[in-house]
Amino acid sequence: MDNPMQVKGMTNSHLLMQGFDYLDAASVEDAVTWLAQYNGGARLLAGGTDLIVMMKMERANPRAIINIGHIPGLNEIKANPDGSVSIGALVSIHTLATDAMIHQRYPALAEACGSFGSTQIEVMGTIGGNLCNGSPAADTAPVLLTLCAEVTLAGSSGRRSLPLEKFFLGPGKTALQPDEMLVEITLPASSPGSTSVFLKASRVAADLAIASLAISLSRRAGRISECRVAMGSVAPTPMLLPRVADALIGCVYSPELAAEAGALAAEAIAPIDDVRASGWYRRQIANVMLQDALQLAWDHLAASKPPSMPRRASIPVNGHHALSIAPVMKSGERQEIELKVNGRIAKVWVAPNELLLNVLRGKLELTGAKYACGIGECSACTVQVDGKPMLACLVLAASAVGKDIVTVEGLQDPQSGELDWVQRNFIDNTAFQCGYCTPGLIMATKGLFNEIVDPSEEQIRHYLRGNLCRCTGYASVMRAVMGSATPQE
Ligand SMILES: Cc1cc2nc3c(=O)[nH]c(=O)nc-3n(C[C@H](O)[C@H](O)[C@H](O)COP(=O)(O)OP(=O)(O)OC[C@H]3O[C@@H](n4cnc5c(N)ncnc54)[C@H](O)[C@@H]3O)c2cc1C
Ligand code: FES
Ligand code: FES
Repeated sequence: MDNPMQVKGMTNSHLLMQGFDYLDAASVEDAVTWLAQYNGGARLLAGGTDLIVMMKMERANPRAIINIGHIPGLNEIKANPDGSVSIGALVSIHTLATDAMIHQRYPALAEACGSFGSTQIEVMGTIGGNLCNGSPAADTAPVLLTLCAEVTLAGSSGRRSLPLEKFFLGPGKTALQPDEMLVEITLPASSPGSTSVFLKASRVAADLAIASLAISLSRRAGRISECRVAMGSVAPTPMLLPRVADALIGCVYSPELAAEAGALAAEAIAPIDDVRASGWYRRQIANVMLQDALQLAWDHLAASKPPSMPRRASIPVNGHHALSIAPVMKSGERQEIELKVNGRIAKVWVAPNELLLNVLRGKLELTGAKYACGIGECSACTVQVDGKPMLACLVLAASAVGKDIVTVEGLQDPQSGELDWVQRNFIDNTAFQCGYCTPGLIMATKGLFNEIVDPSEEQIRHYLRGNLCRCTGYASVMRAVMGSATPQE
């Protein structure tokens, strides 16, 4: 039957209309057993920033969703004794963007993760989801390809590892079998005298790449001794460019060498025309990006230090929360769950497909978090989950059990009714016009101050880049946020 919410091909992105079973995995074994039982009909849910959007847009219609977000041990970054680094599949993009060890050893990975559409998407999205979605535009993919990453997959018959370059098979297609999940990504030790650079061209900050490029480079005796180059958004899968790398190895950097390599990169890719850019433009930009990235990498090596850390960060890797929900909820069933919202426990009945934003607004009458795009692009629905800004329009209510949720209503002192200092600064600076984006901006600003005590203007602009204001009142918002940097009593 046609979806009654669809009008002439347009989808209502406020609701998740499809029915599905919801299963909450407590271990990798749970997840792969259920994957096998549904025999290709189930999808894993990590951060949901691809999956929930695809379901809302009716591009995915799984019979079951298996939440892997509560599985312990998958959200850790481990430095191994042999110098390699293992990254769990649930490590968030934001953690990678701000982790000091990643920044020091694999600067291009931190750079790529810091280039995502918004801070909220970085906080919710995981590295495992980025790779397993199989998008040619996945920003971590070109970097991980140049770093010789290996992926570990777990299935019902055990674990296997394969080089990342064998993982991507086509748009949306990966080497994962129906009963398999990605558990870990391993990066070989970064050798002294090596560096990596990531560049991305996009129409606006909060957009997928028109083209992205990563290069890893080692220098010995004044020459390029090792090199790998990879690009995203220029072919059906993220791709290595071995001919370009071969042309650079053994050479001394010069602008002429860079120009030759740029021309080779433009030839080696297989771009298409789409809404973001034409194939012709992608070839031009590949040429320029290769030249820029090569020069940057060479300069880093000459300076023998990685680029400075883009921003100070102290958000810990996600903690594990006890579950208070039956692990299985069948499609169409409803279950009473407990949500901790603004310091209080609220009991609500939900179906598997109910979104946190609907529950907050409709059932708990907390209408501060706003509905707008419904697909992660405007941040009007930002709330804090465990102290971090997240988009309530992309969170399944059942998956929020055990989390500490704060909405804009929760910032006010419950006894005196006094507003939070950030709210007061927004008022004092008239940092609103229609006010629709204001609660989202305030909640994102609170997330910023949870993470960075005294942010610079550049850090503020970067952190809030995904919070769109339709009235374009950004100048007064900047004044309010900068004025909030020092809390006033
Ligand atoms: C507004 C917006 C902006 C975005 N900007 C960017 C951007 O700039 N760059 C970019 O690269 N991406 C971007 N994305 C896409 C998305 O945020 C990332 O791909 C993100 O890393 C996905 O991670 P997730 O945990 O949310 O994945 P999910 O949505 O949970 O999962 C994605 C897919 O991978 C599968 N999956 C997840 N984890 C595993 C696992 N461990 N094993 C097997 N399968 C798994 C899921 O079943 C699903 O099919 C953007 C998305 C939105 C909505
Ligand atoms: S309504 Fe959630 S991001 Fe736009
Ligand atoms: S003040 Fe109107 S949308 Fe921002």
